[in-house]
Amino acid sequence: MSAKATLKVFRGDAEGGKFQSYEVETYPGMVVLDAVHEIQAKQEPTLAVRWNCKAGRCGSCSAEVNGKPRLMCMTRMSHFEEGQPVSVAPMRSFPVIKDLVTDVSFNFEMAKKIPPFSPRPREADGTHRMQQQDIDRIQEFRKCIECFLCQDVCHVIRDHKKSNFAGPRFLIHLATLDMHPLDTLDRRELAKDEFKIGLCNITKCCTEVCPESIHITDNGIIPLKERVVDDYFDPVKWLMRKVAGGPEKKKAKLPVISDEPLRGTFAATPLAKRGEGE
Ligand code: SF4
Ligand code: SF4
Ligand code: FES
Repeated sequence: MSAKATLKVFRGDAEGGKFQSYEVETYPGMVVLDAVHEIQAKQEPTLAVRWNCKAGRCGSCSAEVNGKPRLMCMTRMSHFEEGQPVSVAPMRSFPVIKDLVTDVSFNFEMAKKIPPFSPRPREADGTHRMQQQDIDRIQEFRKCIECFLCQDVCHVIRDHKKSNFAGPRFLIHLATLDMHPLDTLDRRELAKDEFKIGLCNITKCCTEVCPESIHITDNGIIPLKERVVDDYFDPVKWLMRKVAGGPEKKKAKLPVISDEPLRGTFAATPLAKRGEGE
């Protein structure tokens, strides 16, 4: 049997906006994205929403539903208490373009800064041999769908606007490369100095919102932090390296991509402009 639900959807742009209430007929299995599409189809054709797969694979329908970062296509309306309005807002760490659509280009700029995978040459028989346990360690990181919900919830990005902090999505990318058995580049100095891994204080909020259940902090950020600390702040390891010679991997350099400061245009829409108060 269908019932009615009230959605309070943010309407606005970079200049500001407010929440507007819409009533929709619900049905069994309906997800928040369906409800937003109902509003778009029958009440508000100009409502902007980004989506693609409706299957939790493309990572484009990220939003804040009742204040929590979620994929709209994977959030059932039945999850919420009947009769209570459900708020749907754009991700607050990124500037609003229109309604539920945000400008996530900060993430793509950050991705470009990470020196790419640089495998060692193949062996004489043309193969690349790896240990299964090395593959298992990084396999879960490859499930990332780049929804940027972890970036949205990270308080270092959200509150402090630390211009070079890479954020959890890119710290696990750095961890993946660091743990990769074939890779030949040492990106730990970049992780420390350019991507500011030290600013992460392991609150694990990123892990809590990841729709792919990736153990971002425990399996990615913490091991990378430990390796950086071992390399740069452990005097015994430092002495051993001096005695044994230089590092096995070549130090990675930041690729030159642009003279523009990374966050020159990156300013999340203030909460007051979103009708939520500071
Ligand atoms: S654990 Fe680190 S990266 Fe994740 S949300 Fe907290 S501060 Fe950000
Ligand atoms: S790590 Fe998880 S939350 Fe972060 S972008 Fe990837 S899938 Fe989304
Ligand atoms: S529409 Fe693709 S993840 Fe939601």
